[in-house]
Amino acid sequence: MALLPILRFPDPRLKKVAQAVAQIDDNIRKLAADMAETMYEAPGIGLAATQVDVHRRVVVIDVSEEKNQLLVFINPTLFRCEGEQIGEEGCLSVPGIYDKVERAERVTVHYMDLEGKQQTMEAEGLLAVCIQHEIDHLNGIVFVDHLSQLKQGRIKSKLAKQARVTA
Ligand code: NI
Repeated sequence: MALLPILRFPDPRLKKVAQAVAQIDDNIRKLAADMAETMYEAPGIGLAATQVDVHRRVVVIDVSEEKNQLLVFINPTLFRCEGEQIGEEGCLSVPGIYDKVERAERVTVHYMDLEGKQQTMEAEGLLAVCIQHEIDHLNGIVFVDHLSQLKQGRIKSKLAKQARVTA
């Protein structure tokens, strides 16, 4: 396994739309394992392949307290969305920035697992938020894209300052 570098907003590669995975092979299994290691190391609760500059529809999520319930979603699609919730979101590609985003409260997601089997999962609360956030990444959308232009401008200048300090 290997740690993968994470793209930082506003890197234009975060806007690419990821392609569907046709079949599970060693490359996809290795990608998922490396993404999980990268997510746990960061640490974060979710990571989309887009964020490590691989434009395939692969997402890893673990919202458990003990960090022992890894979920791997290949080609995830939202089948049903119900209700709404507003929570503070952050993102490994937008370090140090948190803001409120409106999401569906409950979702049903269709996806393929690492054995290549089609699966359906119902999720609510934080897991539902995380699934929506990561599917956004696969579609080239970062959570700050849901915020006002004014806020986005402030975030860009804040991140540019951080980059100068840490470079
Ligand atoms: Ni993110």
